[in-house]
Amino acid sequence: MGDQFRIRELSATPQIDLPSDTEHPGRVAGPCVFVLFGAAGDLTKRKLAPALFNLAKARLLSDNFAVIGVSVDDLSLEDFRRQVSSFLPAGPDSTRALEWFQTRLFYERGDFADPNTFAKLRERLAAIDTEQHTEGNYLFYLATAPRFFSQIVQQLGAAALSRQENGRWRRVVIEKPFGHDLESAQALNRDIKSVLQENQIYRIDHYLGKETVQNIMVFRFDNAIFEPIWNRRYIDHVQITNAETVGVEQRGGYFDTAGTLRDMVPNHVMQLLSLTAMESPVSFQADAVRNEQAKVLHSIQPLSSDDVLQRSVRGQYGPGVMDGKNVSAYRAEPGVAAESRTETFVALKLNIDNWRWAGVPFYFRTGKRLTQRHTEIAIQFKRTPFELFRNAPLHKLHTNTLVIQVQPVEAISLSFGAKIPGPLLRVGSVDMSFEYSRYFGADAYTGYEVLLYDCMIGDATLFQRADMVEAGWRVVDPVMDVWRVLPPRKFPNYASGSWGPVEADQLLQLDGRQWRRIEP
Ligand code: BG6
Repeated sequence: MGDQFRIRELSATPQIDLPSDTEHPGRVAGPCVFVLFGAAGDLTKRKLAPALFNLAKARLLSDNFAVIGVSVDDLSLEDFRRQVSSFLPAGPDSTRALEWFQTRLFYERGDFADPNTFAKLRERLAAIDTEQHTEGNYLFYLATAPRFFSQIVQQLGAAALSRQENGRWRRVVIEKPFGHDLESAQALNRDIKSVLQENQIYRIDHYLGKETVQNIMVFRFDNAIFEPIWNRRYIDHVQITNAETVGVEQRGGYFDTAGTLRDMVPNHVMQLLSLTAMESPVSFQADAVRNEQAKVLHSIQPLSSDDVLQRSVRGQYGPGVMDGKNVSAYRAEPGVAAESRTETFVALKLNIDNWRWAGVPFYFRTGKRLTQRHTEIAIQFKRTPFELFRNAPLHKLHTNTLVIQVQPVEAISLSFGAKIPGPLLRVGSVDMSFEYSRYFGADAYTGYEVLLYDCMIGDATLFQRADMVEAGWRVVDPVMDVWRVLPPRKFPNYASGSWGPVEADQLLQLDGRQWRRIEP
């Protein structure tokens, strides 16, 4: 905290008017079968199985519900049920829900390239419809490697599993990465749209499952006081930080072909940026919201080659010390090439060409093996028009900053100047802050619950439309082009456990600004 003094919020018991559950009962999702391709994979284990189970516990799934796992692994029904159950949060209050959930799990072994897999799946689905009264509604979740996305969708079409008729719905959820550049994303969109209507496609970005990310819209558009100042007249610039402490773990093989730019920017970072910068939608209907998000993404000023050189920074982590332990360099991670030039850190300055944001830079940085796990959006307001207290000793020159903290702590805080108590006029910076967990309790959810539930009820608001995905790639494509022809000269260029390469600091210093200091 240095010499900056802060007054922590003192109020004892948070007060909030919460709607009671009886006022707003959750709408139970209708009958359906959740078909999970890639059922033996990591995502199923870490997120999907626990999220479905949490929905079951919250009684938001229909009694007429079933899951069919599909993968190449040779598992019996018992093996599959045992495997899935081992991923679920156990507890004395879960016994009944566990039994309910387990009896609705089924398994189908098969190769995604083999039409026979889909013929068998179709028979199995018909049998489940009869036994479980799932009414022919199917949600196909593609938790597989991206190379299977198009193939699975084509196979679903060929097996007549994608057609919606007689009131039955068929929806397909596609995980990221959606393409590896603009051209491949457009090709994938073309492929899947040759089989599916846009309203059957749910392109998932798990950042939209995070409470604080969803709250950006409520914060901006349900409070009259922020909107008038949310523009170039009052805001100096915006900083988005998405810092991870983890390295590439066991995903070196995938990551070394992707890099941080592809892995984080067209999707997660663009979601944070579009929700921060979009205009108010006319309603909370899926397309009304997504139209505004797409519009702002399309307003991002395209980067020329010169811009890329001046406004982008890439980095790769070397060895370092984290939590008192030595950690190895990216190039020493399993699955990573010894001379790899893949970036594990990106910083970029973007401008948005519209009336609201003209002249307000959006800076972001995202990277692995950084000092601290921390994701936030910081809105940095302009200085006062003249400095009335210029002769008062300032503990630190400050401007108002509004910080939307996404993780690990979910919070919103506003800093402002205040008089330090005492006979002398001294000015310091204080915080007003709101923490989710203090008001609403700890959140035991994975973040996928809301997304899976929304797919089942047919609400696509929190999913990316084709034009949004393509707009994200349009921003990063020029960066990839320049980086490809100019390989990095001095990788690794930041130590594990630091805040990234010095060039990221210089990016802001050149504009007379600096990254917000993030406190542990
Ligand atoms: C994933 C990326 O989409 O998001 C990972 O592929 C990254 O590389 C992860 O670690 C970050 O997600 P979160 O929710 O931990 O911020």
